[in-house]
Amino acid sequence: MALRSPLRLLRPTPPSMVLCGARQSPLASVTPVLGTIPRPCQVRHSSHSPMGTPISRKKVTIKTLQTLHKKNEPITMITAHDFPSGHVAEAAGMDMILVGDSLAMVALGMQDTSEVGLDEMILHCRSVSRAVGSAFTIGDMPMGSYEVSPQQAVASALRIVKEGRVQSVKLEGGAEMAPTIKAITQAGIAVVAHIGLTPQRQSSLGGFRVQGKSTAGALKLLEDALAVQEAGAFIVVLEAVPPEIARIITNKLRIPTIGIGAGTGCSGQVLVQVDLTGYFPPGRFIPKFVKQYGNVWNESLKAIEAYRDEVKKREYPAPQHTYPMAKEDLEEFERLVDRN
Ligand code: KIV
Repeated sequence: MALRSPLRLLRPTPPSMVLCGARQSPLASVTPVLGTIPRPCQVRHSSHSPMGTPISRKKVTIKTLQTLHKKNEPITMITAHDFPSGHVAEAAGMDMILVGDSLAMVALGMQDTSEVGLDEMILHCRSVSRAVGSAFTIGDMPMGSYEVSPQQAVASALRIVKEGRVQSVKLEGGAEMAPTIKAITQAGIAVVAHIGLTPQRQSSLGGFRVQGKSTAGALKLLEDALAVQEAGAFIVVLEAVPPEIARIITNKLRIPTIGIGAGTGCSGQVLVQVDLTGYFPPGRFIPKFVKQYGNVWNESLKAIEAYRDEVKKREYPAPQHTYPMAKEDLEEFERLVDRN
């Protein structure tokens, strides 16, 4: 097919620069901290656009967390497992963002946390850290990456921090993990300890059971909390512990406690993001301590179903979702096509 002056048909639109002020930014409505200074951004004709720059609020450091603890102001922690969940947690102003090994179940569809490996954890830590400018980040040490020896633990922790770009690591276990916590902190890496219900050990604990319910159990928990503190942990997560015991342990420690299923007597709280936002299918089991603050599953389902219906009815894309061209170019094109 011989087209006349084909180059005339290829009149590219010059890349245009527009000012993206806070009002134009889709992030502005959810992130008041973004500020209103207009910044130039390029108009992109692609669906593969970056998600935006992390919000600028003061960086949360260990010192910030210690100050909150001293002031008795609760510390907020949430999990994130990828760039979007890290981004929204950061935008919501979380103090701490944990790339937990709950990743295994809620993002990778595994049965439990024992299956997730170090390389997978590192990949997800890296994607979350790209979204987080201010919150303090923690990467979970997966089962099998730290129990063999303190040396193994230091090597894994170094990889999580250097390759995963997070600011600290979390590991499960009490007094028996003290030498390991000491070795990691001596290597210059901040450690969050995790005691009480430790999901990586659920088989040996006889399932997902509340810990510290008996006097002996509560004493063991206190012993563990003191041991991880002495070993150098800067925070300890208490999971599935009676609230009275969690409060007493919190009062006995110099370091903050972060509770999950442990009542309000802890220095802060953590929840798994998909649990609290409701981003899971109906009928899924959720533990008693979870409060569901939203229903992201329903919102996503409604949006995707509406999209499906509009595509089937050829209502989407509407004219405003398409790229116009000059009438004379179109007519010329049609003339040329018809002639051949
Ligand atoms: O893996 C995880 O998400 C956790 C939190 C529940 C504390 O360890």
